[in-house]
Amino acid sequence: MALINENYLKLPGSYLFSEIARRVEAYKTANPEANIIRLGIGDVTKPLPEAVIKSLHNAVDEMADEKTFKGYGPEQGYDFLLKKIIEFDFNPRGVELAIDEIFVSDGSKSDTANFQEIFGLNNKIAITDPVYPVYVDSNVMAGRSGTLGADGKWTDMVYIPCTAENGFVPQIPTEKVDLIYLCFPNNPTGTTISKTELKKWVDYAKVNQAIILYDAAYEAYIQEDDVPHSIYEIAGAKEVAIEFRSFSKNAGFTGTRCSYVVVPKEVMGYTESGEPIEINKLWNRRHCTKFNGVPYIIQKGAEAVYTTAGQQQIKALVEYYMANAKMIREGVASKGIEVFGGINAPYIWLKTPTGMDSWTFFDKLLTEVNIVGTPGVGFGPNGEGYFRLTAFGSKENTEEAIRRFTTEFKI
Ligand code: MLT
Repeated sequence: MALINENYLKLPGSYLFSEIARRVEAYKTANPEANIIRLGIGDVTKPLPEAVIKSLHNAVDEMADEKTFKGYGPEQGYDFLLKKIIEFDFNPRGVELAIDEIFVSDGSKSDTANFQEIFGLNNKIAITDPVYPVYVDSNVMAGRSGTLGADGKWTDMVYIPCTAENGFVPQIPTEKVDLIYLCFPNNPTGTTISKTELKKWVDYAKVNQAIILYDAAYEAYIQEDDVPHSIYEIAGAKEVAIEFRSFSKNAGFTGTRCSYVVVPKEVMGYTESGEPIEINKLWNRRHCTKFNGVPYIIQKGAEAVYTTAGQQQIKALVEYYMANAKMIREGVASKGIEVFGGINAPYIWLKTPTGMDSWTFFDKLLTEVNIVGTPGVGFGPNGEGYFRLTAFGSKENTEEAIRRFTTEFKI
């Protein structure tokens, strides 16, 4: 008899964004004439930068020639990309990394979901609430969650509320935790953390031999000073933090797939008997066993992000989406709705009006003005009463959505 991993049975029926897609499809089938504007999932809409496209084409040609053809590459990524990552993303911020501390991969969704595999099941997991659901679901699948309570919380996880009341700043928990997921700029709230606040987490992790899993997929959207782009800007973080980065949001790779994980050799996990073990070695072992590397063609595309033209082009993409963010923020606020985020991030987090629950707001927005967003409660119990809009739509669609929202939507 083939026994299943029963942890999967604990999970809600479908993944948040699949559920939204299902509801939108059902609405579209019933209302085929509806002109739906999707500001739900954080998927980009502008094409890949020209420099990336050129490099992809060249790499395709290389694959057509026996002299330059590539088969299996290094699982961790080609040196040409690893070197550029260190030189452009870290050295200018005063962070030194070795090439074998970077692992190129196919996306931060899979990286953040997979990383928990190398840790024991008895670790206490801390998540901010609301949170990107992948961190939670992957730990439920592994068996670290306990059961789902009526309050929407997993009994064995520690929830760190991030709400308007505390300025979306996660506070150090009173109970001891071992693995801490942080995401800044934050998905879903679009808010950020100061270096001073982040330092408190690094210090906590050092004292408690904990590890911070830091998702920095949206760092390119930071506009203000004193907002760390990398956790390694904080003294001591290289001893306790893993960082996840992506080419999805800065360079439009959501469909092309390329990301990387930084695993400094100083970061230690422990055996039951207290023996320190390099997390880098474990991740390398796991990565080489389960992954054969991002395709050469895609890595060449990612390398082009670091050319002068590539850097200018990704800056223009970020500016384009941030202009949408401003438009959304201002449009929503003009209706007297409280709005957060959208300053250093492509997400706008709004308080649903008149105390409406977030799925009711989702339905109302979809049916009255044909706009799709993401209900806050889908990101955790403390997301209830909030709603997320993304700035990743086209300028034209965002303008039209805000026109409908401000002139036709009744609250
Ligand atoms: C989101 O909408 O939260 C993102 O698209 C998630 C992701 O990048 O997987």
